[in-house]
Amino acid sequence: MNEKVRSDFPVTSELIYLDTAYYSPYPLPVYQAGRDFLDMRVSRTGGRTSEWADVMDEARDRIAKLINAKPDEIAITTNTTEGTNIVATSLGLQPGDNVVWDDLDYPSNIVVWLNQEQTRGVQNREAKNRQGVLDVVDFEPLVDSRTRVLSVSHVSDRNGYVHDLKSLADLVHAHGGYLHVDGTQAVGALQMDVKALGVDFLTCGTYKWLLGPTGLGFFYVKEELLSELQPVFCGWRQVKEWQPYPDFPLRLYPRELWGSARKFECATVHFQGLYELKAALDYIDGIGMDKIERQVLQLSSKVWKGLHDLGAELKTPRGTRSGIVTCWVNDGRRTEELLTKRNITVSVKPADDPREYVGRYQESLGSAPIRSDLRISPHFFNTEEEIDHLLSVLESRTELLRPATEAGSTRA
Ligand SMILES: Cc1ncc(COP(=O)(O)O)c(C=O)c1O
Repeated sequence: MNEKVRSDFPVTSELIYLDTAYYSPYPLPVYQAGRDFLDMRVSRTGGRTSEWADVMDEARDRIAKLINAKPDEIAITTNTTEGTNIVATSLGLQPGDNVVWDDLDYPSNIVVWLNQEQTRGVQNREAKNRQGVLDVVDFEPLVDSRTRVLSVSHVSDRNGYVHDLKSLADLVHAHGGYLHVDGTQAVGALQMDVKALGVDFLTCGTYKWLLGPTGLGFFYVKEELLSELQPVFCGWRQVKEWQPYPDFPLRLYPRELWGSARKFECATVHFQGLYELKAALDYIDGIGMDKIERQVLQLSSKVWKGLHDLGAELKTPRGTRSGIVTCWVNDGRRTEELLTKRNITVSVKPADDPREYVGRYQESLGSAPIRSDLRISPHFFNTEEEIDHLLSVLESRTELLRPATEAGSTRA
């Protein structure tokens, strides 16, 4: 990537930041957009919320372009989980219906579907990965005529595995169900075309590969399915047209609700975040998703090969490539210390509890080694030289990469 991009990300002059799967650093134009909004608020000439809402529609347009959807198919949400909840609660699932997901998924997805088991008697079915891989054949035995949703993360946060969405869409459609995709670890790193891939619902947060804020996400719903989904929450922003309330001329009541995905947007949202998100999407568009994807894949391939050459036990399967590469380390804490000292930021998570970060266990575990996952996630602002540096630091301590069984230590 060119010098301009590097200077747009001040973090690159301080750190080798290889942790976008956790969250991305802001580039300056995104930071500036947030500051502009705050300046408006401070000066009390902040404009009207209707103007802020225009930015919501501008962000919606850009998201639609990014994933090859129509603006009417996009709702702005607060996070990935909200979008998944919209699918789960609006489809009218019945006792005996089933939902299929897999063991490489993030809990934000699984928790929502498990709740449907408790509240509606929906059956959950879990596909199990084979050495980090999940092919369509692993889902086939689980999908039947009562399957309403097959739900996967496009890219797994655990090992970067990239699901074959088209095959999964074909499978679930053949049984009359829908494909729901969590795009959080994919959109912004990989090109996404919901139409070509047959995706029915896509939910996504904005603070990772999309360079945007926390507290915002989006939900894509295929146009043809909009009338089938009945929102559970309701609010004033869902109203397209108002009419006078009978006998109370000063009050209004809804004449018509939005028929588009806006029907899932209830009320006032994080407008500052929307200014930032719009700037982030413009930034990404300015570079081009094809270029971004190429750089991400080039860097993650280099990481994979480099770790492999160092004898690391990779959790990321050979044939899959995204922005995430994961391998085992037999002492997560020492690995993290080593890299932090060299100004390299990655994620190190205890293998027994991959939702946590290894630092959280420091006190409770004394000096015991913690068998961990080392997750490296370069974005387009990273360089090949940075990857070389990471690999040379790891090369100086290859005993950390030896398979956990050899080291014989796990978290208690
Ligand atoms: C695949 C995936 N989905 C979702 C999330 C976060 O979900 P939410 O934005 O709802 O908190 C993460 C966070 O790491 C993730 O990796």
